Amino acid sequence: MKSKRPASFLGTPSTAPGPLGPDMLRDFALIRNNPLAFLEKSWRTYGDVVQFPIPKPPTYLINSPQGVRKVLVGNGRNYGKSTIQYRALSLVTGEGLLTADTDVWQRTRPLIQPAFHQALLTELVPITDSVTAGLVDQWRNIPQGAVIDVDQFMLAGALEVVGKFLFGANLATNSHVITDATLSALEVVIARARVPITPPNWIPTPANRKLQRSVNTLDQAVRSMLRQRSIDATHLTTDTPNMIDLLSRATDQHGNKLTARQIRDEIVTFIVAGHETVASALSWAWAILAMDPKLQDELAHEAGHARKTEGISVENMPRIRSFFDEILRVYPPAWLITRKALEADSIDGHAIPAGALIILSPALLHQNSKVWDSPEVFIPDRFLHKFPRESFIPFGAGLRQCIGKDFAYVQGVLFLAALLQKFQVRYPEGGNIPEGEPLVTIRPRGGVGLVVSLRG
Ligand code: HEM
Repeated sequence: MKSKRPASFLGTPSTAPGPLGPDMLRDFALIRNNPLAFLEKSWRTYGDVVQFPIPKPPTYLINSPQGVRKVLVGNGRNYGKSTIQYRALSLVTGEGLLTADTDVWQRTRPLIQPAFHQALLTELVPITDSVTAGLVDQWRNIPQGAVIDVDQFMLAGALEVVGKFLFGANLATNSHVITDATLSALEVVIARARVPITPPNWIPTPANRKLQRSVNTLDQAVRSMLRQRSIDATHLTTDTPNMIDLLSRATDQHGNKLTARQIRDEIVTFIVAGHETVASALSWAWAILAMDPKLQDELAHEAGHARKTEGISVENMPRIRSFFDEILRVYPPAWLITRKALEADSIDGHAIPAGALIILSPALLHQNSKVWDSPEVFIPDRFLHKFPRESFIPFGAGLRQCIGKDFAYVQGVLFLAALLQKFQVRYPEGGNIPEGEPLVTIRPRGGVGLVVSLRG
């Protein structure tokens, strides 16, 4: 139901429809417990441009295909990252690539891009193969009929791949420690991003202590990686540089090297951004596959065929890739993207004041029936056909698009291909697709408990 709008919220003009203060109060529990559901409700009630009754900063949700495109691509330079969401994340990652605002980002992205160069990505294939071989061994040894949390395996596997590829480090040995530290730091970050007024970091509240402990653990992991790399560097057999080498050697246009702090920030950024995202997508993939034995057989068949003919690769397994894309459409791990308008703009005819907070959600844009056919239906083969490319934004779009996009496809598709060829998954009696919990990524609430059996 649409409410009558006042002309302004404490001096900030009202320029688009949206809920009023009392509506927000009524939805307080929803905002806290499931902010994505609240955003969806606002979008479905008020339309593609919604203004919330918040004066500082004026806050908008944009969910029209052309509006999202304008913020990320067309007028992308007008939208910076100095938002509450990224400031909270930077408590963990510092000024790494993901959270850096425009100036710092412009200096660092060209230094880091070479690590994701296609030639280096070919090294990802053998690394992913060896990690999946390890997972196959672990799943083989699971007692028949036992229920395992597939999510934990995906988190550990994804972390191992990131560690080996980017840093030449074996993070597998203490993967639980790093994964737990990452998830628990992010929990505090999310709580902060939802409540703007929080005690400063130096006050030892339980949340701040938890954050500090997790950040210390991540710092320790970084130090041990740097130590390991400098030992390895004395007797390297390959001259292919990894991320640590690139970061240590990199200089800016004035010839300055990155400081130890900058190197630490980039490494933690990659650990945080590079493993939970891919793991979330993979966990949802298993959650959906467990409902559909026929789809498992078909995708396993495609993988088996590729192995015997052209070879296993993302290009040679279009159905697995399409299925993975459909997972990214329906469960986009990075469900929330925020920006700050640097100067005033107009979106779909609505005035956007300078300083406004812009909220975009791939999860909502992927449900917009103005561009997607039957968006509410999961269609594994959807991406084999024409689809609205510009409105498919699991990796964002424009200048700040995900640097790890190709990496994510290689890892995601190869993990699925390797495991599907060997195993079948099903829910235990009474099990069902878990609920989504929109944290930093959309996580399956309570994990993904499945029974795994060897393919007959
Ligand atoms: C399915 C997996 C992934 C998803 C869904 C995902 C999603 C995203 C999204 C939406 C953004 C843009 C955020 C914005 O515009 O504000 C982003 C940026 C970024 N991602 Fe990913 N990502 C994934 C995997 C990875 C991997 C594997 C890595 C590294 C190994 C990575 C590293 C980064 C970094 C460093 C940025 C910041 C790029 C910049 O601003 O220049 N991501 N990611």
